[in-house]
Amino acid sequence: MNIYLIGMPGCGKSTIGKKFAEKFKYNYIDMDSYIEEVNEMSIPKIFEVYGEDKFREFEKIALTYFMKLSNTIISCGGGMIKDYSNKELLNGLVIYIDVSLNDLEKRIKKDLINDRPLMKTKSVYELYEERKEAYEYFKDFTICNVNVEKAIEDMRLLL
Ligand code: S3P
Repeated sequence: MNIYLIGMPGCGKSTIGKKFAEKFKYNYIDMDSYIEEVNEMSIPKIFEVYGEDKFREFEKIALTYFMKLSNTIISCGGGMIKDYSNKELLNGLVIYIDVSLNDLEKRIKKDLINDRPLMKTKSVYELYEERKEAYEYFKDFTICNVNVEKAIEDMRLLL
């Protein structure tokens, strides 16, 4: 079974996903890295050259590819949930990684903002307000990331 991690940028999807995969013998794939590899371009460059709509198409293509995988933890880009029709492409358990907006703001340091084009124009609060319903729509379960080890253990209990 695949496990899809969703949540705001900086919520810890990649850290939790990688560690969980290592500990419990899953494969791990990061959606952004996959898109960068396939397009031979960084995410900020993709936004600059093609724009957000095209990037969202690349996300859909990535999800279509991931459907063929099994036993894989997939860390999804924070905005994948903007397209509700993506839900039918998720063939596995969808876990929302929750973290307080306060913590999120602290984590989104300048370097993270440079890597995430949308966060140059919108605050964490604005993005969350826009997306919270979508995260609700997509998720099967929520895991709170107060502490990575605890989050991994909570995730294991769901399986
Ligand atoms: C985005 C989040 C990023 C990346 C892109 C767009 C978003 O992924 O896909 O910059 O719209 O929230 P992370 O959530 O891994 O930072």
